[in-house]
Amino acid sequence: MTKKKFGVCGSGTMGVGIAYAAAAAGYDVRLYDLNDQILAKAGQTIDAFISKGVERGKLTEEGGKELRERVVTTTDLSEMSGAMIVVEAIVERLDIKQELFRKLEEVLSADAIIATNTSSIAVTEMANGLQNPERVVGMHFFNPAHIMKLVEVIKGYATSEEVMQRTVDLSIELGKTPVRVKDTPGFIVNRVARNFYGEAFRIVGEGAASHEQVDRCLKSVGFRMGPFELMDLIGVDVNFAVTQSVYGQYFNEARFQPHLIQKKMVESGRIGKKAGGGFYG
Ligand code: NAI
Repeated sequence: MTKKKFGVCGSGTMGVGIAYAAAAAGYDVRLYDLNDQILAKAGQTIDAFISKGVERGKLTEEGGKELRERVVTTTDLSEMSGAMIVVEAIVERLDIKQELFRKLEEVLSADAIIATNTSSIAVTEMANGLQNPERVVGMHFFNPAHIMKLVEVIKGYATSEEVMQRTVDLSIELGKTPVRVKDTPGFIVNRVARNFYGEAFRIVGEGAASHEQVDRCLKSVGFRMGPFELMDLIGVDVNFAVTQSVYGQYFNEARFQPHLIQKKMVESGRIGKKAGGGFYG
């Protein structure tokens, strides 16, 4: 039986994974983006996830078909009406996210949760100015979102305890491992990770080693991926936006300083796997 409606805004790297996880848990998913072309690509990605799941014996053909039918793509935000939660995974820009939230408030019922998958923008600031800021919560998935278990559940200044608990419960229902955290710049993982990337850039920037060497070294001591491979997966642009945001929120503390290599990569369009290549490829 299909469960209640689950909305996802943004059908890029993270949105498709979140939509897949919700559909796999039996939710009736609405996946929203700016145009049909982007949504068609998202649909293909979900098809590929399903094929892989079937190949690996995690899904039956029939189960995969049903899962796919539960994800409906749309460019019409009013289709979020009746959703119990909408998870936002659009571009990492405060003004654009706030504008989306204002529109969502017009469509959603008063008890629906508005969750943000932001990597680094303050949940508190995003909620500021909304009619019901207590329903805004951080639900920070990790890439690839349909596979990685961790979800940081972030309490903004106004987020109610009831909304926190419902988001924790929902994360568990999606098969995730939620961790509660207060709204602090970078939350837990992205704060710790700033130095993982930052020191790697400094090593390469000084010419002490190549990015391939840095990645090989870290993998040899147990990391699944090196920092440069991981940035290609995340999106060098997304990673750069997060670095700048965390740096600013800590009042430009030197230990969080972005690196010129990041800027140059973004300027040249070498932003990672989603664009055909970054540090690799
Ligand atoms: P992406 O660039 O792959 O996808 C963003 C999508 O949002 C695009 O399809 C774009 O068309 C759409 N979009 C942009 N403005 C929109 C609007 N006004 N309304 C509807 N859709 C809009 O980005 P990605 O990587 O999926 O990141 C999305 C969010 O998730 C960001 O806040 C990012 O910081 C966060 N995040 C990213 C992670 C990653 O590894 N890439 C990990 C965890 C969080």
